[in-house]
Amino acid sequence: MARLLLGAAIALLAGVSFLLGPLAEAYDPLDPNGNITIKWDITQWTPDGYVAVVTIYNYQKYRHIQAPGWNLGWAWAKKEIFWSMVGGQATEQGDCSAFKGNIPHCCKREPKIVDLVPGTPYNMQFGNCCKGGVLTSWVQDPVNAVASFQITVGHSGTSNRTVKAPKNFTLRAPGPGYSCGLAQEVKPPTRFISLDGRRTTQAHATWNVTCTYSQFAAQRSPTCCVSLSSFYNETIVNCPKCACGCQNKRPGSCVEGNLPYLESVVNGPGKSNLTPLKSLWYDLSGLA
Ligand SMILES: *[C@@H]1O[C@H](CO)[C@@H](O)[C@H](O)[C@H]1NC(C)=O
Ligand SMILES: *[C@@H]1O[C@H](CO)[C@@H](O)[C@H](O)[C@H]1NC(C)=O
Ligand SMILES: *[C@@H]1O[C@H](CO)[C@@H](O)[C@H](O)[C@H]1NC(C)=O
Ligand SMILES: *[C@@H]1O[C@H](CO)[C@@H](O)[C@H](O)[C@H]1NC(C)=O
Ligand SMILES: *[C@@H]1O[C@H](CO)[C@@H](O)[C@H](O)[C@H]1NC(C)=O
Repeated sequence: MARLLLGAAIALLAGVSFLLGPLAEAYDPLDPNGNITIKWDITQWTPDGYVAVVTIYNYQKYRHIQAPGWNLGWAWAKKEIFWSMVGGQATEQGDCSAFKGNIPHCCKREPKIVDLVPGTPYNMQFGNCCKGGVLTSWVQDPVNAVASFQITVGHSGTSNRTVKAPKNFTLRAPGPGYSCGLAQEVKPPTRFISLDGRRTTQAHATWNVTCTYSQFAAQRSPTCCVSLSSFYNETIVNCPKCACGCQNKRPGSCVEGNLPYLESVVNGPGKSNLTPLKSLWYDLSGLA
């Protein structure tokens, strides 16, 4: 029944997609390939781990990251800690009580990193850091669309065969909305060119992670989830694989048809004086 009505409503509403506005899309229609890429370059091995430069690129055409700025998290794959960092800081140190003498910067299994603020002392700065987590979009200002920090990791393994990429990356910028993929090894690793342009060095290993923005992930529960376009052409506006919110925040995995909120769209609470179709229309258009 619900499916039938939904089908009828889709037929009815085709051509008025502009009313649904940006909520109808799982991604930015103007920037379907926009993403935030995180690059993790191991630049040096240390006696118990490595030094890495982590760079965040806002490869989105229009979406900025505003104050209070980005918050990048991950889960360590092993028993890593990080001894120190410049250009950013972990929001919580966690339980470092097992350490005597030299105390790590952070012992959390799932650290969360934020940028430092402008005016940070020079010896704590790094690269493109210290903008309070604010990043412009790539089109607006590519120089300020990049942030980076350097971390010294311990208890991680000390060669490219024993280190493991962190898992479960999360990005809040500043609210929810981004979902991040798995870290992938990039071959060949990043090359760094010195300031005078006369020397090139190479990372020992490079991973990258891509995070994409989704309106569905940004909202606690999808209020409007049918994507309609009278301008249907795979080339110009490609058809979203998932029209009704996504399971597990993974694009392409649609919610199951019999979830309670789909039923409440049709038999919505407090809308008993509306016909089911009208009620669905109100829910879809956000007028209810
Ligand atoms: C992320 O955006 C960059 C720049 O537009 C692009 O080169 C890269 O392929 C994108 N990555 C993914 C996984 O879409
Ligand atoms: C990553 O997330 C998955 C699913 O939530 C969980 O099962 C897994 O244990 C997490 N990995 C780590 C290293 O925390
Ligand atoms: C580790 O590094 C060595 C030397 O740079 C390289 O030959 C090898 O392929 C790397 N192994 C892995 C698993 O990346
Ligand atoms: C990240 O790495 C993957 C796999 O090597 C590659 O396809 C992709 O283009 C890389 N993205 C960026 C932005 O470097
Ligand atoms: C979709 O748009 C592209 C580019 O304008 C065009 O080449 C193609 O023929 C269109 N496809 C259809 C089915 O209209």
